[in-house]
Amino acid sequence: MKSKVTVKCPSNIALIKYWGKKDTGIQIPQNPSISWSLSDLTAKTTVKFLPSNCREIKFSYDGVPKESFLPKINEFFKRIEDVLPWVKNGIFEIDTVNNFPHGTGIASSAAGFGALATALLEIENKLDNNTEVFWNKVSEIARLGSGSACRSMFSKPAVWGASEAVKNSSDLYAVELKSPIHTNLQNWKDTVLIVDSGEKKVSSTAGHSLLNGHPYAESRFLQANKNLADLIKVMETGDVERFIKIVESEALQLHAIMMTSIPYYMLMRPNTIAIIESIWKFREETNFPVCFTLDAGANVHLLYSNEIESSVKTFIQTKLLLYCQNAMYLCSETGGKPQIEYYD
Ligand code: DP6
Repeated sequence: MKSKVTVKCPSNIALIKYWGKKDTGIQIPQNPSISWSLSDLTAKTTVKFLPSNCREIKFSYDGVPKESFLPKINEFFKRIEDVLPWVKNGIFEIDTVNNFPHGTGIASSAAGFGALATALLEIENKLDNNTEVFWNKVSEIARLGSGSACRSMFSKPAVWGASEAVKNSSDLYAVELKSPIHTNLQNWKDTVLIVDSGEKKVSSTAGHSLLNGHPYAESRFLQANKNLADLIKVMETGDVERFIKIVESEALQLHAIMMTSIPYYMLMRPNTIAIIESIWKFREETNFPVCFTLDAGANVHLLYSNEIESSVKTFIQTKLLLYCQNAMYLCSETGGKPQIEYYD
């Protein structure tokens, strides 16, 4: 049966970082991580499916064929054959587009694989006459594309990786955090300050592999487990000061691990540090609930409570924009999950 599905899926930002993979499977994390979805930074993906006796994939970005993406997409389809055997037989026409500009250095793989996984599950549901979306299964498929993509499925914080602190947590897929979130830590926003829009010198996938044999690997995994358990408690009690300490420490641990890998490398740029120091100064002066986190790049994610949005906007305009490449920044609310926009 012929199908066409369009899905819009948010990106996400990790508060506790996934960094390092086990060698026991595909994209099995060494430690649990937790993230907020970024509802305003999305990928929109359309999948057209026609059953056939073999597999053929056509891939385009915003209507323009992109052959360079095909090896990654082909590898993804091979990986998901065990979970979705029907993908062996079909012609797939996939088009994707991000709502954030190219060259902002924002990893689009989380939103992109999240959207593709949701679309494929929708097609499977249609083939099976199912109406319920199984988010754990969507998350598992997304994980096989890019580990962090499996956390883009939930409006509440998403936990990926088995942890004693979270019931039903799994290495195979992410789950929604069920414990209540204190109002102090609801409705936060994320402004991504673009320090460097260029291609990363070391990809995340290469960075993960440098954890094998890393002198600090074991202690980092222990720290991440402990930080996750602490952060979950803090999200319940609303201790913003402690939240900030854990989140900032996680970002710096991630980059410390990069700087102590063999070969060592550094993704932070001078303006990354300048922004971090400005945020610390602003927080000291105002006592406002603001902090930063980093992903595997030079850009800074400024996290802040909704209530102080107008002061933070002024702070960004007056103190941070000078450190951003072409004064570029992106704003998003936290939360959000994949939306099915079209289905036929
Ligand atoms: C630093 O999910 O991009 O953003 O699984 O190889 O695709 P692959 O890596 P990826 O790694 C993300 C790492 C991170 C931290 C995080 O999102 O938890």
